[in-house]
Amino acid sequence: MNDADIARLRTEFQQELARVSSESDLQSLRDKYLGRKSGAVTALMKSVASAPPDLKPALGKLANELKQELEAQLTGKKTSLESTKAPVGGVDITLPGRAPLIGHRHPLTIVREEIEAIFTRMGYQVLEGPEIEDDYHNFEALNMPAEHPARDMQDTLYLDGEVPGQGRPATLLRTHTSPMQIRYMESHEPPVRIIVPGKVYRRDDLDLTHTPMFQQVEGLVVGETITLADLKGTLTTFLHELFENRTKVLFRPSFFPYTEPSVEVFIGCVFCDGKGCPVCKRTGWLEILGSGMVHPSVFEAVGYDSERYTGFAFGVGIERVALLKYGVEDIRLFYENDLRFLEQFPL
Ligand code: DAH
Repeated sequence: MNDADIARLRTEFQQELARVSSESDLQSLRDKYLGRKSGAVTALMKSVASAPPDLKPALGKLANELKQELEAQLTGKKTSLESTKAPVGGVDITLPGRAPLIGHRHPLTIVREEIEAIFTRMGYQVLEGPEIEDDYHNFEALNMPAEHPARDMQDTLYLDGEVPGQGRPATLLRTHTSPMQIRYMESHEPPVRIIVPGKVYRRDDLDLTHTPMFQQVEGLVVGETITLADLKGTLTTFLHELFENRTKVLFRPSFFPYTEPSVEVFIGCVFCDGKGCPVCKRTGWLEILGSGMVHPSVFEAVGYDSERYTGFAFGVGIERVALLKYGVEDIRLFYENDLRFLEQFPL
């Protein structure tokens, strides 16, 4: 152990220190030179004890200086490593905040929930029914005989199976929510006051006003004293709440196999305020729903006494309401999931 050894140790240390780039490098370097068990400088200090007595003081002094020097350099390096680190946790707290993305309810959901809320306030129960239906509930029990045009293969999406002896498929995708009228009355006695929202399916091609799947809300009220005046009052109140209070409502005779009389309901055109425009085909009126007094043969199909009970029913298209309410021109927009469209609706 001599002066040259000490100088070499110093040079080696400095070369290694220059390569340190992390705190763990720094710790290994400290262990290598100053570690209590195997540190090179520690060993140097120990060897001083066995040096010849005349050299001891000088060597001891040199060794001590080296130790202090190394310690000071290690501490300096530690400070400089810390100062180049990213701010707290790698987050730059001076950046402006990013607003979290908040999802929106789909416009069709908004409309369905609004319709449900209006009828719930009026004491109706909200139910759902199966989308896969049978011929009986979708047509037969609703007073639509085999030859009825609404049963045409062109409109209905049939699934597999066959109605025994009739050569007609037994299961289908429901073409409207009206079969739930039958299902509900089959298992419940009057009085009835229900609405049934849900998806329905038809063999239609996509265009501005058609999608092969769309949504309806069915309504059914049955009791001993229900009249056409109840139908008018209920549907007028409903449309006033759904659109604006001042919306004009028009009832016009129509035809549905399962109601008699049948009524088509119109509202004053929301686009031209009733003055006449291309959307309302210059009539000033837009058709908004179908309704009528429940046909006695529908009551008979479910075992209700048609002499004792009367009722009214209606069906309203959710897409149709949304198109009119929000002034949307293309029904396909509701199903394309384009965020630029969907973000325009209220939460
Ligand atoms: N089911 C009809 C449709 O899909 C709508 C409808 C009309 C439902 C009259 C009814 C009703 O309950 O009474 O267009």
